[in-house]
Amino acid sequence: MNNLSIAIDGPSGVGKGITTKLVSKELNLKALDSGAIYRAIAYYMLSNKIKLKTFKDDILKNINISFTEHNFVELNGVSVDDKIRNDEIGRLASDFGKIKSIRKFATEIQKKLVLSSGYVVEGRATAYEIPQIPIKIFLTADMKVRAQRRYEEYKQEDPSIKFKEVLENIKERDMQDKSRLEHPLIKHKDAHLIDNSNLSIDEQVKLIVDIYDDYVTNLNNKHNK
Ligand code: DC
Repeated sequence: MNNLSIAIDGPSGVGKGITTKLVSKELNLKALDSGAIYRAIAYYMLSNKIKLKTFKDDILKNINISFTEHNFVELNGVSVDDKIRNDEIGRLASDFGKIKSIRKFATEIQKKLVLSSGYVVEGRATAYEIPQIPIKIFLTADMKVRAQRRYEEYKQEDPSIKFKEVLENIKERDMQDKSRLEHPLIKHKDAHLIDNSNLSIDEQVKLIVDIYDDYVTNLNNKHNK
């Protein structure tokens, strides 16, 4: 098992999820979906009727987030994975993700994992939040391409969904994630930029695996000098 972690940041609908899964498989690393942490926090807030206006930092003391062996996210020991993958929770996760104490809380959970073992972390601003992660990738794609991908995905569950709705949602989420004061969604200067608008999944996975392999080779060469 490799022990160097890699961060894959980027906006909604850019394919971070599938890329993270495939890269982690290829490199024999664990996968960490940081969005699931924010979503589980949002689910806690929704279940306990806590709004942005009524949130207090102390509330975080009641929240414990972990991952099962099969990577399902647990909130206070109960798996909530099947309850958080929807637009309402996504929007709330983005809202609550603007709060400084929440970002700190979610980052600490990630830090403990990724600095102790090799992970592929799927995030928004991981490169800024955990700069110790040696390999940083920023994935991007044209907004319409991203909306089309999300649309195809959502249509399978809800055939009545409209492309325009999905596009508006992506636009709104981009604006919110980019304008956040606390670690906004922007490329880190050390991150490799990959625009996947015209790349197949296999092509982009290979690019990332090559970046990782080059990094490891350079590191070994340095050690052997
Ligand atoms: O990646 P996702 O769609 O599951 O994330 C849902 C929201 O959670 C996203 O719009 C913003 C927030 N989030 C965040 O602020 N930081 C992260 N590292 C991951 C997600």
